[in-house]
Amino acid sequence: AKFLLLNGPNLNLLGSREPHIYGSMTLAEICDGLREQARAAGHSLEEFQSNAEHELIDRTHQARKDGVDFILINPGAFTHTSIALRDALLGVGIPFIEVHLSNVHAREDFRQHSFLSDVAVGVITGLGPKGYELALQAAIHLTGKN
Ligand code: DQA
Repeated sequence: AKFLLLNGPNLNLLGSREPHIYGSMTLAEICDGLREQARAAGHSLEEFQSNAEHELIDRTHQARKDGVDFILINPGAFTHTSIALRDALLGVGIPFIEVHLSNVHAREDFRQHSFLSDVAVGVITGLGPKGYELALQAAIHLTGKN
């Protein structure tokens, strides 16, 4: 199957960004690990990070043209603000898992609401980089094809 990993704003800073909350792994390290995990299981994974809402939306639209089977997305702060990203994901009809490094439920009130969670296949929050790995494992299981 074909997987797409989307990362939203400020996740390019992983490794140096509030490491007590987000850990010390860089986004490149996370992505390399995921690409290898997909490859080892006979699948392919592409990765895209942007700080711009419209770029994440355009990449989501492109995913349908590319025949992407499943999306893994850490929307960053757009989680809590973006109806447009929600509409894009619904618009292309590609199933997705929402991933957060930190446990958003243990944090500020404004992080308690997600515009994506109720339309996601599932949500993983608070497990650090391991959460991406588990999300891909689940996505591979759910797509059940090469
Ligand atoms: C995050 C949680 C969001 O609330 C925050 O805005 C982020 C990262 C996480 O991975 O824990 O940028 O999505």
